Amino acid sequence: MSGTQKRLIARIEQLKKERRAVIIAHNYQVGEIQDVADFIGDSLELSQKAARTDAEVIVFCGVHFMAETAAVLCPNQTVLMPDLSAGCGMAEMISADEVRRMKQKHPNAVVVCYVNSPAAVKAESDICCTSSNATKVVESIPQDREVLFIPDQYLGAHVMRQTGRKLILYNGYCPTHVRILSSDLQEVMAEHPDAEVLAHPECTGPIAQLATHVLSTSGITKMAGTSSASTVIVATEIGMMHRLAKENQDKEFIPACRSCDCTHMKVNNLEKLLWSLEEMQYPITVEAAVATRAKKAINAMLAISR
Ligand code: 13P
Ligand code: SF4
Repeated sequence: MSGTQKRLIARIEQLKKERRAVIIAHNYQVGEIQDVADFIGDSLELSQKAARTDAEVIVFCGVHFMAETAAVLCPNQTVLMPDLSAGCGMAEMISADEVRRMKQKHPNAVVVCYVNSPAAVKAESDICCTSSNATKVVESIPQDREVLFIPDQYLGAHVMRQTGRKLILYNGYCPTHVRILSSDLQEVMAEHPDAEVLAHPECTGPIAQLATHVLSTSGITKMAGTSSASTVIVATEIGMMHRLAKENQDKEFIPACRSCDCTHMKVNNLEKLLWSLEEMQYPITVEAAVATRAKKAINAMLAISR
């Protein structure tokens, strides 16, 4: 670690105490952010952490929908994002108007909304889900009810395979995960025939079908730790490799696709994190009327995820 990095970290630590702040970071963040964070995890873990923390300031190192979820859950705390340009390609594919149109077409459907969506979309939904609890959330809905699953068609298709239940899907997808091609994965698998393949459910169907397990980002971390395989092929965003390698030094991790890089997740760095704490920038707020309705859908998910 360079002297500059050490000085940045020391100043971040000092300001964190002064501001009574907590730094939470998604598993895809760059290594230097993960290493300085108080907590790293997947979307579900991060929203649970936000819901429970008594810190006055939450510096959210992830993407906008995640910070927005924290802001909905913690209206009396300050939620900051070090860089507002960290959006999410999938979340931007759906709007509240679109959901209202779908609800008119399917008036009796229960709307299940993947958290990778704007708060206004969550506000139109009955219950949220993340990649780690989507199957459980759908299973909690009575069999005789229609289910409208938004916005990720691939997570939705994965849940359909898991539950054997027909869902009405929206056509959203993650622009990062669709870059993982089955031909690339098959090539890597041929080079490492004994490896396990751990894939994220945002991957396309052929990738999910080639995988040994389909899991959330923290699910991948846990499975990698307990797996007996010494080589693990990882089909998700490249930022995962940092935590996997750090926590499992006896194993080899091979990305299914080296260009599977979410540019939004990568905009944060130590300097921006420090400026965020220094200048208290950039606060994330959600309009009260939207937040109240979105919170219902998020809490419905949290209630069955404990
Ligand atoms: P996880 O909830 O599995 O961390 O996924 C979030 C995400 O954005 C994956 O692209
Ligand atoms: Fe959104 Fe995909 Fe990036 Fe996850 S990896 S934050 S779904 S664009």
